[in-house]
Amino acid sequence: MDLAVIILAAGKGTRMRSRLPKVLHPLAGKPLVKHVIDTARKLNPKEVIVVAGHGADQLQAEIDDADIKWVLQQEQLGTGHAVQVAMPSVSAANVLVLYGDVPLITARTLESLTAAVRPGQMALLSVELSNPAGYGRIVRGNDGSVQRIVEQKDATAEELTISEGNTGILCATRDDLASYLAGLRNENAQGEYYLTDCIEACVAAGGVVHGMVAASESEVSGINDKLQLNALERVFQQRAAQLLMEQGVTLADASRFDLRGEIEQVGMDVSIDINCIFEGRVSIGDNVTIGANCHIINSTIGDNATILDNCIIEDSSVAADCNIGPFARLRPATDLKQGAKVGNFVETKKASVGKGSKINHLSYVGDAVIGENVNIGAGTITCNYDGANKHLTEIGDNAFIGSNSALVAPVKINEGATIGAGSTITREAPQHTLTLTRAKQINIIGWKRPVKGEK
Ligand code: UD1
Ligand code: CA
Repeated sequence: MDLAVIILAAGKGTRMRSRLPKVLHPLAGKPLVKHVIDTARKLNPKEVIVVAGHGADQLQAEIDDADIKWVLQQEQLGTGHAVQVAMPSVSAANVLVLYGDVPLITARTLESLTAAVRPGQMALLSVELSNPAGYGRIVRGNDGSVQRIVEQKDATAEELTISEGNTGILCATRDDLASYLAGLRNENAQGEYYLTDCIEACVAAGGVVHGMVAASESEVSGINDKLQLNALERVFQQRAAQLLMEQGVTLADASRFDLRGEIEQVGMDVSIDINCIFEGRVSIGDNVTIGANCHIINSTIGDNATILDNCIIEDSSVAADCNIGPFARLRPATDLKQGAKVGNFVETKKASVGKGSKINHLSYVGDAVIGENVNIGAGTITCNYDGANKHLTEIGDNAFIGSNSALVAPVKINEGATIGAGSTITREAPQHTLTLTRAKQINIIGWKRPVKGEK
């Protein structure tokens, strides 16, 4: 369809009680308005136009989608005025109006709405409400056809009993909408130009309004305060959890699962314990077990990997059969090859860890390339930073690094080398050799401990 999407986002959002413009508040880790933009894109529109007002600069800075057309509505004179301001930017033949603070609207609903539009025929999305307070009410004729919308503040007592509310989402041809907008007046209880008056204008011009009722209230709910924000966050997360369970994932508790991005791929027999957060793009293989309180960001987890409780994995790749945690932190550019093990209180960064290698306890491994079947003892530190630059540590296959060693980079530990515990290594360690730098142990025979009170 030759479509322009106009997203209204000029309002202030006073009830959020925040310096951040309302539509920039995150839901599932993504600004509200970005949810709407991403959904709009699924319709393949010719253009997406965002009407900004309050916090327009901040909005444009945060939403970096290059192809969005920004329109400034200096004064908020009503929803009709907001669309009027956007119309000169429309080149497509049809126009769909969405709202920056209604984040859960689905492409499927919008597709059926837009499909009903022709010259002289517009489409309107409404919702059945148990409590319609605050909403514009849909007034239908005796034949059931939509006649007009009356705002709460302009409604008669009888009109207020109508339970069908206006979502505000509508679609019309550009030319029809332009002519309805041109006739808007602000003689109403709020002194505003109401977009909703376009419905009556369409009917008066002999047109038809197709009223479509939304499948769920949450899909069309707007956000005005933090309570509503949280309610929709929970709806979003419930949907995300449901989708994963439908794909066969076992969740210890669907209400303690958070997605702030996308699980691009998930294998069979995956189980996820409570309080895990998945952020950015995550992909998970078969038979993966993820313990409680893990935060996984932009990472790939291979088949049969086990991640124990309390791990953070960011911008990393974990191959098949790896074992991680508890309490491990994989920082960006960690690349664990098959069967590697990273244990308690270990931090890695920009580190490649070869097949079957182990870093089991209390280590920092950064800017390192580690071969296969290497054992890194507890408390080993790669001293990768000299205060100005980062340097590389290379460790060959089958090397053994004794506990509490400091590897001062740039440095190379060759294949099969053994480093004695407590060493500070500043030069290359030869292959199949024991290298150690610690001072020799001395034993003082007959030495007496001091006794209290004795001088
Ligand atoms: C509007 C509808 C009402 C509907 C309700 C659903 C009108 C006249 N009324 O009422 O029928 O039931 O939404 O929530 O349309 N905005 C601008 N510029 C403006 C005015 C508003 O960008 O000049 C934006 C706001 O930021 C907001 C949205 O449009 O996101 C809705 O505006 P709001 O003033 O909240 O309309 P309601 O009174 O709720
Ligand atoms: Ca509103």
